[in-house]
Amino acid sequence: MWSDLNDLILPSPIQEVDFPLLKNKNIRLWIKRDDLIHPWVSGNKYRKLKYNLKSAIENKCKTIVTFGGAFSNHLHATAGACALLGLKSVGIVRGEIDLNNPTIKFCIERGMNLIPVSRTAYRLKENSQEIMELIQKYPDCHMVPEGGTNQLALRGASEIVDEIKIQWNEMPEIISLACGTGGTTAGILSANTLNSKVIAFSALKSSHLESEIKQLSDFKNADKLSVQTDFHFGGYAKWNTELIDFIYDFEKQTDIPLDHVYNGKAMFGLFKLILADYFEPESTICYIHTGGLQGINGLKYMAGK
Ligand SMILES: Cc1ncc(COP(=O)(O)O)c(C=O)c1O
Repeated sequence: MWSDLNDLILPSPIQEVDFPLLKNKNIRLWIKRDDLIHPWVSGNKYRKLKYNLKSAIENKCKTIVTFGGAFSNHLHATAGACALLGLKSVGIVRGEIDLNNPTIKFCIERGMNLIPVSRTAYRLKENSQEIMELIQKYPDCHMVPEGGTNQLALRGASEIVDEIKIQWNEMPEIISLACGTGGTTAGILSANTLNSKVIAFSALKSSHLESEIKQLSDFKNADKLSVQTDFHFGGYAKWNTELIDFIYDFEKQTDIPLDHVYNGKAMFGLFKLILADYFEPESTICYIHTGGLQGINGLKYMAGK
């Protein structure tokens, strides 16, 4: 299905990064650049949408209906992927629609029909009368949940591990990444070829994310998972100058941009753990860059307001 999209960069490249801290602690860190997969459908969004869109096409669904906030990476990627594949897309958006918001602009330019709903209805999703009535207008649709997490998404995310195995021959001791709903992490855990530990950094305040991820992956490789919950910077999409300075320095030294919602926080957390000798010397870590770089435009837009 994706074979007609000539510009997908797959397998996504893996590159080693070099920092004095890594040398001092004798740790080797590689980054799997899923952020480079496609400018519109990057990172874990490609992984999570791949089999959802394949299934929609196979079942002759012409429309994808999904949910997201005003700066959502998921809405952005869904709008982009549907435009590329000739599918219609509908985005049910939490709260008002600001036509100058760069994510919203992108979605509209890619033909997504954006429908604002109240925050209460949004929270209830299909259990709200308002949203049920909206969905009924698209009888031939394939629904993708908020954030894109479902079993088809897990299947797509599990391919990250298969790719690493092929690219690397043997697996790194640790695979690390950012998490929100935990779908991408659950997909990695569900990979048959996994024999690394998985360290996931929560981008939001949550006390039950670890058990949710284990349930999502049907407890497969559950003993390999650790979820770090101390690096959310106050909650989802919250940030401070320490985080922005870290992101800026990281990009200056590596040429690798990080977003402030997911990857900036996760990489910050990973560096803190390395500094605190959380890892044995000579550990090998492969960090999965889950994309989300379109969100930086949103940050700049809000700062300029
Ligand atoms: C860029 C980025 N990284 C990480 C995540 C977290 O992924 P998950 O919800 O699968 O844990 C998201 C949200 O889906 C995201 O947009």
